[in-house]
Amino acid sequence: MDQIQSAEALRERLGRADQVAFVPTMGNLHEGHLSLMRLARKHADCVVASIFVNRLQFGPNEDFDRYPRTFESDIAKLEREGVDVLFAPHEHDMYPTPQVYRVQPPPVGDELDGAFRPGFFNGVCTVVLKLFNLVQPDFAVFGKKDRQQLKLVRGMVQQFNLPIQIIPGETVRADDGLALSSRNNYLSPVERTEAPRLYRTLRGVADDIARGRTDYANLEASARSELARHGWKVDYIAVRNGIGLRIPHPEGFDHPNVLIVLGAATLGSTRLIDNVDVTPKDGED
Ligand code: PAF
Repeated sequence: MDQIQSAEALRERLGRADQVAFVPTMGNLHEGHLSLMRLARKHADCVVASIFVNRLQFGPNEDFDRYPRTFESDIAKLEREGVDVLFAPHEHDMYPTPQVYRVQPPPVGDELDGAFRPGFFNGVCTVVLKLFNLVQPDFAVFGKKDRQQLKLVRGMVQQFNLPIQIIPGETVRADDGLALSSRNNYLSPVERTEAPRLYRTLRGVADDIARGRTDYANLEASARSELARHGWKVDYIAVRNGIGLRIPHPEGFDHPNVLIVLGAATLGSTRLIDNVDVTPKDGED
């Protein structure tokens, strides 16, 4: 695997590739990331991963300094997956002067996670656009666990006419249902036992909708209470139409197949997010 830090060396190396599939990450890689690398490999002869902990997407009270940096073990994992190129730029190269030009996401970027993490999707879209410009991939793979991120990146690619195909990767879960996430490392053993409740609760709401319930507000409220009863601080539980993430019609006119249930909640000091499709569909988004 070629490890590259500068834009010049990256262009020189990728000039030799036919098709490039790109997986951006912030490191601390787990099986979820590795599944995205394998998906990338199905699309292109050259797989590029990036590791860059993006300061712009952390709020002032968030865990930028605490975010786990595990560069050496990440490299070993990427090598084992047969990733061709690791792009790991220095912060001063990515943001040589303060990054005053930013990507302003549409209003849905201020809902759901964006409502609780102001500026988060502005930071994500800005760094992803910069990485896309540097790597110039044909394909880019994003996990469905960060569903709102996936949707906003897809929208950015469409509206900025970027010639990149966005490939969604399925969420990888532990046997008990917990979605794999770098943040799971922060959970104490007791919290780790409790953590799968977030997935079970979202799945419960989705199953109720699949069985015909359309009283979304009631379903959201009882899911919130269920989590709160078990010690969670809930940011949101939300039923949304997967197309555009809009709020579904209150009278149940949206076809259940297009609905998804998203949630974010904090256990102890660890904030977890997850989402499920009412009707699971492989690869689609
Ligand atoms: O999903 C992530 O790890 C990050 O948000 C991303 C896409 C690498 C941008 O920093």
